[in-house]
Amino acid sequence: MKIARFSRIGFILAAAGSAVGLGNIWKFPYITGEYGGGAFVLVYLLTVVLVGFSIMIAEMLIGYLGRRDTVSSFEELAPNYKDLWKLGGFQAMAGLSIMIFYSVVIGWIFNYIITSLEYLPSSVKEAETTFSLMLHTDFLTQLLYHTLAFVMITYVLTKGIKGGIERINLILMPSLMLILAGMFIYAVSLDSFSRAVEFMFAADWSKLNSEAFVTAVGHGFFTLSLGMGAIMTYAASMEKGSNIIKSAFWVVFLDTTIAIVAGLMLFTFLYQYGSGPAKGPGLVFISLPAAFYEMGVLGNFFAVLFFLALAFAGLTSAVSLVEPMVQYFIDRFSFSRAKASILMGLFFWFFGIFAILSNIDGAKEYLTWGEKSFFDWVDYVTAAIMLPMGGLIMSIFVGYVIEKNRVEAALKPFLKWAFEPWYFSLKYLIPIAMFVVMLNLMGLV
Ligand code: PHE
Repeated sequence: MKIARFSRIGFILAAAGSAVGLGNIWKFPYITGEYGGGAFVLVYLLTVVLVGFSIMIAEMLIGYLGRRDTVSSFEELAPNYKDLWKLGGFQAMAGLSIMIFYSVVIGWIFNYIITSLEYLPSSVKEAETTFSLMLHTDFLTQLLYHTLAFVMITYVLTKGIKGGIERINLILMPSLMLILAGMFIYAVSLDSFSRAVEFMFAADWSKLNSEAFVTAVGHGFFTLSLGMGAIMTYAASMEKGSNIIKSAFWVVFLDTTIAIVAGLMLFTFLYQYGSGPAKGPGLVFISLPAAFYEMGVLGNFFAVLFFLALAFAGLTSAVSLVEPMVQYFIDRFSFSRAKASILMGLFFWFFGIFAILSNIDGAKEYLTWGEKSFFDWVDYVTAAIMLPMGGLIMSIFVGYVIEKNRVEAALKPFLKWAFEPWYFSLKYLIPIAMFVVMLNLMGLV
């Protein structure tokens, strides 16, 4: 059987498509608002540059050398204790788990594309009511659009690496960048742009508590798609002889730039037309539509474009969240691609229904534990715990388990003098940093 491989640009766009997602445009602005801006943004940027980039290289390397699904790649590359190390590949399960709420949010976005065509809320109060009616009472609308997301994502996966994944990324990623660039230029022309810049980059360290710190690190992993096998699985279909460093650089660069651009744009709109930076997941679904309303006719046009861009970002990421487990069933159990894609799709579709129910009045009481609903738990456990753990395992695996000469042979030609510093930080600095983050999460330090 001839194995489908990404073209070079196809790989970079697909990996960037995975990285650039709801994390950049929905999550990053609202957690930035929640933790007060500047200081939080700086910790996030430092994480991305110091930790994220290094782990991105390590994750791409495992896929590139392993050439198969995540479990087989770990197994193949470990010189001993293969049965133990292959467990590292089960980080792919995190992706399917994330899909449980990710698909629901993509559904909300679909809903907002349609309604923004002719309706925008005339005040934040009204916007809040609209959103909360959908979230807490409208089970059917959410189910309908969640199901639509499931159908689209599963369809792309059945078409495979070339005809499905590469293809939608080649179309959707440039479209997304074009839309954001256009809206960003408009934002720059507004008076409030400088206030947005100040909000995002003026650091007030007193606001940075340890929870903000852990959230920033967790988000660094989430937004770069690290620690759950997405990048690894894509890298298994890279062309031989590809420049891993260059690809990793582009992915990190595009992801970070798009998060900053989206953040600046949204905060400008919120200062100019709305109520200033808002907190919480409602930012793009509540404060933003109310700000679009103030723009007049242009507002509907912008709103539809914005939610389209958000849907594009979400869909290209969603596909990468499911593909690792699809690949796993194809490689290890000889499933056909269609069968694997549909089964994995049904998995997140089914549990997604409970994520919806966990916000619905009358049902949510049964699906809430402690302070968090099922929806929030899945978000928290995956982003804050599973992804950093995946990162820790990969840095140890590449730093200590794979023979150094294999790592060197694949990377030194591209990294040159930077190879040793990278290897050092992967071996010593990153594991310690990840360990501290995890202890902190468990409330131990
Ligand atoms: N990086 C994606 C985002 O920012 C989410 C994601 C996480 C995708 C992990 C794949 C793997 O939305």
